[in-house]
Amino acid sequence: MIIAMDGPAASGKGTLAERVASHHGLPHLDTGLLYRAVGRDALVRGVDLDDAEATAEVAAKLAFAMLEDPELRTAGAGEAASRVARHPQVRAVLLQYQRDFAKGDRGAVLDGRDIGTVVCPEADVKLFVTATPEVRAARRFLELSARGIAVTEEAVLADIRVRDERDSTRGVAPLLQAPDAALLDTTNLSIDAAFRAALDLIEAATSRAGRAG
Ligand code: C5P
Repeated sequence: MIIAMDGPAASGKGTLAERVASHHGLPHLDTGLLYRAVGRDALVRGVDLDDAEATAEVAAKLAFAMLEDPELRTAGAGEAASRVARHPQVRAVLLQYQRDFAKGDRGAVLDGRDIGTVVCPEADVKLFVTATPEVRAARRFLELSARGIAVTEEAVLADIRVRDERDSTRGVAPLLQAPDAALLDTTNLSIDAAFRAALDLIEAATSRAGRAG
């Protein structure tokens, strides 16, 4: 079973994807980490983030084993990620890795921006996870503060708005709810309630497919 979970920054899709994957015994890929790794490596090597060809070369040399690096979770890496993610050449390099991951024996859970639309349009289940920018900023602020990172909630909200705008308006694979994706709005849900809602939507989608097939 392939489960695609898309949505904007800090919507809770990453945490939900992890819990859904563990519940169903499936491997999980946080595809944002791929873009974060490319952005971070480009910064470290002094590569211009606006240079499509040069950043695609960075993507081609990516060490996928490095995806656990906590440095990839910083706001700076997120910002760099959304800049390199605009380049079709970078996306093309990362596409095959994501598709190969999804096509493992048991299937997989992938979360990102374009999983249901571009990476796995044939996914068995598609969820689009969202929440208001204010609620997403409040959650991300708490998470960063708990990790001892000094930020203000206003700065986090501003960063989220910039990334939403850039991710939604880019020419290639923009952040978009697939027409056949179920919407999960987590604005007024605790993480446990959102998890139960996600499981219900997955159950509904798979039993619908079972009836149709
Ligand atoms: O999800 P996360 O915030 O880690 O993603 C970082 C950035 O990577 C996003 O703002 C987006 O620009 C890019 N991204 C993407 N496609 C994906 C996953 C992430 O363009 N499938």
